[in-house]
Amino acid sequence: MIILRSISAVQKYIKKIKDAHKTIGFVPTMGALHQGHMNLVRQARQHHNKVIVSIFVNPAQFGPSEDFKKYPRQIKQDSLFLDDEKVDAVFYPTAEMMYPRGYLTYVNVESVSEKLCGHYRSGHFRGVATVVAKLLNIIRPDTIYLGQKDGQQVVVLERMVKDLNFPVKVKVIPTVREKDGLAMSSRNRYLTETDRQQAPVLWQALKLAKQMIVSGVKDPARIENAMRAHITQNSQAKIQYIELVDKNTLETVTECRKNFMIAAAIYLGATRLIDNIIV
Ligand code: PAF
Repeated sequence: MIILRSISAVQKYIKKIKDAHKTIGFVPTMGALHQGHMNLVRQARQHHNKVIVSIFVNPAQFGPSEDFKKYPRQIKQDSLFLDDEKVDAVFYPTAEMMYPRGYLTYVNVESVSEKLCGHYRSGHFRGVATVVAKLLNIIRPDTIYLGQKDGQQVVVLERMVKDLNFPVKVKVIPTVREKDGLAMSSRNRYLTETDRQQAPVLWQALKLAKQMIVSGVKDPARIENAMRAHITQNSQAKIQYIELVDKNTLETVTECRKNFMIAAAIYLGATRLIDNIIV
């Protein structure tokens, strides 16, 4: 596996691949890799000649009181993981490279960035869209692989790719879960033992919502209340939001018909967990 540490090294490497008419599958990450990431890598491996992964803890997507400094960084372990999965190249940019002195350009995907998590994490999706736009311009992949776990991120990035005519396909891969249903996330390692035991309540609440919908319940408020009750009765979690939204616009739905997403964020202690399902 080749380790690329500068933008010019990536560009040279990509030119060779393009000259040889080979295709590129790209997986953007912030490192601290887990099976969810590996699943994206495996999908990319199946469909492309070359697989490139980026590892960059992007300062632009963290708020001032968020966990940028504490975010797990484990480059050696991540490299071993990626090597095992036969990734062709990993790109490790630095913040100075991505946002050099005098940097002024940001991508703002309006409306969908402000809803759900965006309401509580001001500027987060602007940071995500900006870094992914930059990575797409540097790597020029045929396909970018994203996890459904970050459902709103998928909506924001799909919109950006469409609106800005990026010549890339977006492939969304289902969430990988622990045996008890907890969605895999690099932040799960922040959970204390007690919090970890309670963490599956989020997935259980989403499953409960799905069952209600399958059995004919159409009122979003009823579903939301049942989810709230499940979470509060079975854990000490603090609910940040539970919302039933259109899966493309993220507008609140008034009736459960089709094409909607149930998304939720909870806090267990200081750890924020998100999850969603598309119905
Ligand atoms: O999902 C993530 O890990 C990040 O938001 C991403 C897409 C790598 C952008 O920094």
